[in-house]
Formats: sequence, C-alpha cells, structure tokens
Amino acid sequence: MLKGDLKHRTGPYRFYAPVYDRIFAPSFSEGHRNMYRLLNLSKGDRILEVGVGTGVSLRYCPEYVQLEGIDYSDSMLKQARQKQDKGKIGRNVNLSKMDAHHIEFDDHTFDHSLVAHALAVVAKPEVVLSEMKRVTKRSGRICIVNHYSEKDGLLLNLWNPFRKILGLGEKVNFLELVENCGLEILEERRVNRDSASIIICMVPFESRTQ
Ligand SMILES: C[S@@+](CC[C@H](N)C(=O)[O-])C[C@H]1O[C@@H](n2cnc3c(N)ncnc32)[C@H](O)[C@@H]1O
Repeated sequence: MLKGDLKHRTGPYRFYAPVYDRIFAPSFSEGHRNMYRLLNLSKGDRILEVGVGTGVSLRYCPEYVQLEGIDYSDSMLKQARQKQDKGKIGRNVNLSKMDAHHIEFDDHTFDHSLVAHALAVVAKPEVVLSEMKRVTKRSGRICIVNHYSEKDGLLLNLWNPFRKILGLGEKVNFLELVENCGLEILEERRVNRDSASIIICMVPFESRTQ
C-alpha cells in the first residue's frame, strides 16, 4: 500500500480520535463484547486485532490472552496508549503502528484474529483479510464485525462515495469477501438493530500461504 494512500485513508481519524469513544463507540459496544465472547478464547492464546483504533473494544479482551493491536493512525493509537497508561487496557495488550495490508508477523503466529469496523475502511479489504488469514493458525478463527446490508438501495449507493471521503468505509460484500479468501464461515449473526453483524470464519486446516 502506497504511503500517500494510507495517509489519505487514515487522515480523517485525526479528527475523529478525540471524540471517537463518545460518538461512534457506544453503538459498537455490543459487537465488541460479542466478538471476544464468541471466539471462546483459551488461556495463553495469541490474538491479533486489526484496526484497533482507540482500543475501545479492548475492555472486553480477557487478561489471560496475549493481544497484539495494530492500527495505522497515530491519533487513534495515542488514545489507546493513554487508556493503557491509565490502566483501562491491560499489560497483556501490545499496540503497534502497522499497515494492515502488510502485517509484520510470521505466518500462523496467532490463534485467532479480529477486525471490527475497519475492513470497510481499508483500501483493499481482500488484501487485509488474506493477511489476517496468513498470520492466523490453521483451524484458527477470524472474527469480522461490521455494519453491512445486503440491500443495494439508491440512497446507500449515493452515500457510498461520501462515506469514502469521510473515512467511514465503503460498502463491502463481506460474505463474498470471506468466500473469495477461502475461509469457512462458521457463524453469521446480527448483533444489534443497527445492522451490525458478526461473521466468524475459520482458516481451513489445509490452508497454504502464498
Ligand atoms: C472505524 S475505526 C474502527 C476502530 C475499532 N476497531 C473499533 O471498532 O472501534 C477504523 C480503524 O481502522 C484503521 N485503519 C484504516 N486503514 C488502516 C490500515 N491500512 N492499516 C491499519 N489500520 C487502518 C483506522 O486508523 C481506524 O482506527
């Protein structure tokens, strides 16, 4: 991913970061809580959260796992680091600045991976999901939380370019994305009335890395 494009994508988060937890996070909390719960994490698991943002989801991350949270926005990461300094995020969490299109971990490093409300924001969701698949162990689970609608209404289509400019994400067909990436869908469920859904998928046992 070109540095200019990355800056352009994550630039708006400079403005959202200070108010993110108050404006966006409340409607995301059901999804955040459920994504950690549905993964059935075990003691000592290594977990990756992509696009961790201000770390608002991490209040639901159990202390018995080791979590790597990555994001490309300095402003969003600053908020997350402040939470950690105040003890609101545990020391079992490591936060790093990283482009999700080039995840700097070896193949099959993590037991499971998560991404919440970030896969529709990145430039190439298919590349990011492939990277998550590469760094997740075989038979490990990948949890995707996002607002999405299968409907193709005129208003949604008109709103889409503005969402992109505002850094709020584009319309993504998540089920197609997951299938094209060669992941097995284990579960799909609605988390709230706001059309936020969770997809839990699994890295197939015979999965190869390119
Ligand atoms: C809508 S926020 C979601 C934050 C958090 N996951 C949540 O649920 O509250 C999207 C996040 O994706 C991050 N992001 C966008 N493109 C990225 C990239 N290429 N690599 C890493 N993070 C990225 C943004 O900086 C932002 O923090």
